[in-house]
Parts: sequence; C-alpha cells; structure tokens
Amino acid sequence: MSLLQQPSLPLSGAGTQAALQVQHLSIGFPRPEGMSPAILDVSFDLQQGEILGLVGESGCGKSLTSLACLNLVPSPGQITGGSVHLLNPAKASENLLLLSGNELRKRRGARIAYIPQDPMTSLNPVYTIGEQITEVLLAHQPLSAKEAKVKAIEALESVRIPSAANRFDQYPHEFSGGMRQRVMIAMALCCSPSVLIADEPTTALDVTVQAQILELLLTLRAERGMSILLITHDLGVVAQVCDRVAVMYAGRLVETATTNDLFANPQHPYTQGLLHSIPTLAHTGTLEAIEGAPPAVGEIPLNACAFAPRCPKVVDLCTQGVPVLEAKTTPNHRTRCVVA
Ligand SMILES: Nc1ncnc2c1ncn2[C@@H]1O[C@H](COP(=O)(O)OP(=O)(O)OP(=O)(O)O)[C@@H](O)[C@H]1O
Ligand SMILES: [Mg+2]
Repeated sequence: MSLLQQPSLPLSGAGTQAALQVQHLSIGFPRPEGMSPAILDVSFDLQQGEILGLVGESGCGKSLTSLACLNLVPSPGQITGGSVHLLNPAKASENLLLLSGNELRKRRGARIAYIPQDPMTSLNPVYTIGEQITEVLLAHQPLSAKEAKVKAIEALESVRIPSAANRFDQYPHEFSGGMRQRVMIAMALCCSPSVLIADEPTTALDVTVQAQILELLLTLRAERGMSILLITHDLGVVAQVCDRVAVMYAGRLVETATTNDLFANPQHPYTQGLLHSIPTLAHTGTLEAIEGAPPAVGEIPLNACAFAPRCPKVVDLCTQGVPVLEAKTTPNHRTRCVVA
C-alpha cells in the first residue's frame, strides 16, 4: 500500500475506445496567496453507450468537473492541468482543452451536449421554445428554416412532449417544470451528440417526473447508443440508471466501481456514509447524514486524506499523505483509502 501521490489510472471499461476520456484534470481559483485547487488530478473514462454517475455532496466539484468536460469552466476558475479527449467520428480523439473557441463551439451541441444544473432558468423567457431549439440546430447544421422546424418538432417528440407541433410556438412559462426539463433535454439532443453531460437533471422535480426523465435517458441511450455522464448527489438515482459510479470528495475521486459493486461492497468510509444516508423501506427513520462538512476550496489538504476529519475509521496514516486511488479487490473497483 503506497501513500505517495501518483497519477491515477483512468477508470475504464475493457478494450473499447472511450467516448470521453478525462485525464489528470485539475482546476483552481486564483487567490492572493496563490492558486487554490478545487479539482485535483481527476481521471475517468466514459465508455461508448455507458451511463457513468458522478456523485458526492454539495461543493465536492461535480459541476466544475462536468463543465471542464466542455471546456466551460466559469471565470475566475482555471483549468490548471490535464486533458479532456472526445472521440470523433473518424474514431480519433481530440483534446477539447486545446481547441480554439470556434472549433469548440462546433463540438458543443453537435458532438457533446450539456444539460445545466439549473435548467429552469436556462431557457430564455422572451423566445418561444421552437425558436430556441431551431437556433441550436441552425448553428450546427446546414438547414433551411423549414427543415429546422421539422427537426425541432422531431426533437420535442423524441422527449415525449405531447402535441409537439402545437407547443412549438409556446413560451417557456407555458410549460410545467417537468416539460421544461424535457425541452432542455430536446435542445441538448437535437443535433444527436454522442456524449451527453447531464448535471443534476432531475433535482427539484417531483418523484414521478424524475422517474419519467430517468426513463427517458435510458431510452435515449438504448435508441442512440449515447454515452451519458450523469451528475447527481442522489445515490438512489445512480442505482436506477448508472452502469458505473465515480464518487467524488473535496475535488478528488475517492472510489470508482460498477454500480453493483459499489452498492454491494462500498469500500471508502465516505461512500459507506453516503449509502447509509439513503432511506430504505426497511430503514425509514432519520437520515444518518455524515457529520461535519467537506473542506472549502482553499482548505483542501494537499498532504492528507481530505475526509480524515470526518472519518469514523481514521488512523494516523490518513494524515501522512494523500492516499492513492487503487484497486483493493477487483481491478475495476478502486478506492482512495488506507484502511479500506
Ligand atoms: N466562481 C467560484 N469562485 C470560487 N469558488 C467556486 C466558484 N465556483 C465553484 N467554486 C467552488 O468550487 C467547489 C466545487 O463547486 P461545484 O459547483 O463543482 O460543486 P458541486 O459538487 O457541483 O456542488 P452542488 O452539488 O452544490 O452543485 C465548491 O467548493 C465551490 O464553492
Ligand atoms: Mg453542481
């Protein structure tokens, strides 16, 4: 067991070329005393046709990581290292972090699409739904206005919006929350991207609508072979739809495994804590939330396990270096913990 900080291996499936490959991604925020790291050496692969869940408590870095996948980290945040390779139709991959603004805009929407964390406020209230979807289509495809309208209505139908042709000319306020969420998904999918990054797409929706949206993502994956990075803080959502899971804490991945493995044998005390906080039919009492709070940016330890102050299994070794993300049982189940 080594405590030395070493480059983590990509979390990968067997053999196939990844649709998206994030390697050694680091993001920081400039402070008077220097760059404060928020994302530290994150590596993972998203396989073709796979749904990978990225989970963790609020503030652990899920949105920053997902935005970096589109080279969209908001200022003053800066990507300080790493690469994000997107597989292109010629089956070669290109590093999105090295593309020019113009080239990037061509990829976004067309090959890699994003559903933002707050879709309720992401639609423009002064334009109709139809205008907003056709604008995306016309930016990426050589279509006439008439062809774009046909495609936009098809996109609305593909996310099961009833009477799509009639709703084309309606404004966002005429749609319910769940229907607006579907419109955001239709917009993200209208140019048939191979990779979808969905940041908490079901948060703030009631349980029935949440189930419908998750069902929709599963159907779209089956119909189009799309790869989906699904960001959520909800392990219940992960259990329903994800093939694999990456657990994040204080800007680092702390456990990666297939969904079945993670639920059957959670190895990191943080993952165990998250799983305990899910209410089950057998255990519907108070939630056992993990006590304490994760460190803020600027307070993430660089020479110790960041979870140590909250960890029920902490030992001296935990504060003597950052544990390595390594396989403990099977090659595809990796954990960053010295006591796991
Ligand atoms: N503009 C910013 N300036 C300073 N710190 C920021 C900024 N944006 C994000 N951060 C910090 O970076 C860390 C990661 O933020 P991020 O939004 O990625 O978390 P998250 O996991 O998506 O959380 P949530 O579940 O609440 O959406 C947080 O500690 C946050 O406070
Ligand atoms: Mg977020």
